[in-house]
Amino acid sequence: MMMDAGGCVEQGKNIITAAKHVNKRVRYANKTIKKNNRSSSSCKKMRREAVFPRVPEVLQQLFVSCREIFKGPGTVPPASDVNKLRSILDKMKAEDVGLGKNLHFFKARGAVKGTPRVTCTTIYQCDEFSLCIFFIPEAAVIPLHNHPGMTVFSKLLLGTMHIKSYDWIGSIRSIKKNDTTPSPQLRLARLKANSAYTAPCDTSVLYPTTGGNIHEFTAVTPCAVLDVMGPPYSKDEGRDCSYYKDFPYRDHEDGGTRGVSEEEGECYGWLQEIEAPEGAEMDRMEYFGPQIKQTTF
Ligand SMILES: [Fe+2]
Repeated sequence: MMMDAGGCVEQGKNIITAAKHVNKRVRYANKTIKKNNRSSSSCKKMRREAVFPRVPEVLQQLFVSCREIFKGPGTVPPASDVNKLRSILDKMKAEDVGLGKNLHFFKARGAVKGTPRVTCTTIYQCDEFSLCIFFIPEAAVIPLHNHPGMTVFSKLLLGTMHIKSYDWIGSIRSIKKNDTTPSPQLRLARLKANSAYTAPCDTSVLYPTTGGNIHEFTAVTPCAVLDVMGPPYSKDEGRDCSYYKDFPYRDHEDGGTRGVSEEEGECYGWLQEIEAPEGAEMDRMEYFGPQIKQTTF
């Protein structure tokens, strides 16, 4: 991953907060110019406040609106609330979460040794929603995965990213290709998106059954994506993440909708659930950007 010489948060006036990869794990190097002996948690708080004395209005607005809009598992926000949240996210810039184009991570180009790993940081999480940023190095992939019972807003903050997404349209079926190949368990899905997006661009929204609930992100350049998920993943509540491999529709036409033309076939794909692929494993790092104020309520 190409964050070795860089960081995920820009340098503050007196502070340097850098994220480093050591043995494939993210570590932080927090250096204060003035030494002090306070406890680490109070130090962290002081550092954050020193670097970002004020929370950007749009970030606070996003948090407050999420608190109002997301009602927990089994609920989907009404269209008016979705539009409200989308319009806030459309206004958001990388700087609002402490990121800038000058960071080494976003300038990094060229081949990466080994598999490039994605890093995730959580701005805020509660039972109803979560605000997370994914840092995706060039050529890295967040593999095809679903969002069970979730409404997810994705805002590309920096970089160019290819998004492929699907929605289910069929049930799981076993399709026999020939006598020697085991029958894969496949499910027909409609292709919702298959394009590259460059920041700044509009926020995309997916719903439990529409909008491209199963998606894959591939970084064309180093990317940062802000995801608002309501509710967040929860294994305990039956919202675990599943991964998929997709196959062209033409590979198993006989198992799908009959009479589909070749052109129409491009709009479908067969998805097979798979074990979490290597690219699904992410590094996690603490969020060092501007801190939202939770005392608004
Ligand atoms: Fe996702």
